[in-house]
Amino acid sequence: MLPERVRIVEVGPRDGLQNEQGRVRVEDKVALVDALVAAGLQHVEVGSFVSPRWVPQMADSAAVFSAIQRSPGVTYAALTPNLQGFEAAIQAGASEVAVFAAASESFSQRNINCSIAQSLQRFEPVLAAAAQRGIKVRGYVSCVLGCPYEGEIAAVQVRDVASAMLQMGCYEISLGDTLGVGTPGAARQLIEVVAQRVPRAHLAGHFHDTYGQAVANIYACLLEGLQVFDSSVAGLGGCPYAPGASGNVATEDVLYLLHGLGIATGVDLAQVVQVGQSIMLALGRQSASRVARAHAAAAVPR
Ligand code: HMG
Ligand code: MG
Repeated sequence: MLPERVRIVEVGPRDGLQNEQGRVRVEDKVALVDALVAAGLQHVEVGSFVSPRWVPQMADSAAVFSAIQRSPGVTYAALTPNLQGFEAAIQAGASEVAVFAAASESFSQRNINCSIAQSLQRFEPVLAAAAQRGIKVRGYVSCVLGCPYEGEIAAVQVRDVASAMLQMGCYEISLGDTLGVGTPGAARQLIEVVAQRVPRAHLAGHFHDTYGQAVANIYACLLEGLQVFDSSVAGLGGCPYAPGASGNVATEDVLYLLHGLGIATGVDLAQVVQVGQSIMLALGRQSASRVARAHAAAAVPR
């Protein structure tokens, strides 16, 4: 049975803009976050507190956090790889943080310069500090349906990393198809294996759309009982350590799917389309969202 409601985690300002080649102005980032919230998105990943040498695009995240307007009830999240990042995120006023591990050893090394086991150890003080201050921590597992360096990844490996993060205190584990290579059958199988250790109510789907399968993968996960999905307005982004991978599934496309299925999101699709147009204008590129392009061509159903 399909859920009545789905929660969308908007990751465009972080997962999207971390991959931009050119510099994106702080005021454009701030306007993006504020407009996403105005469109009804209640959970926005605003930026990350990682090494500026590794990801210079996110070096101004504190400035973005300090300039956004805060709406009550909205989660303004930050991605943090270690305690240093956590402290900086809290100082900047993040209302929640996310830690990120991988199901692939090679990706873990390339992305955060340590093994999977070391990354889990690094998260422990973050979880402890967060618990002390009453801050919620979300967990990501990358490369759940394939790795740019290792190819296929065993579902049990994903299950074990996800379960370690849940046990550590993450309230939700977002399963990342970083490379965007998954297909619906593989996605369903993955959820079944991961759910052996992590209840579905604690799982989220995070699909990049490289092979155009993300919307189908989300539908597959809905059938598996997932109710939380990450997406990026206009399909922005990619991961700097996943060469060739495209952005996240577009928020517009996910909303069109969900609303078409009669699933409530609390988000206004037409407004998100406009937000996407504004940021793409600032970036000087076309949106990757099929729905946004259909709207631009006036192919909107009556
Ligand atoms: P390292 O070089 O091993 O770290 O990098 P270190 O602890 O040895 O520190 C080296 C330097 O980095 C020091 O500075 C630290 O202060 C600094 P120095 O003394 O040389 O001047 N440093 C920091 N600076 C700012 N903020 C911090 C921080 N930590 C250390 N938090 C590290 C290890 C994890 C820091 C590095 O590898 C890193 O920053 N990686 C981030 C990579 C990243 O952001 N990738 C993209 C996000 S993940 C993603 O997109 C996937 C996801 O969307 C899900 C999916 O799609 O699968 C989440
Ligand atoms: Mg991602």
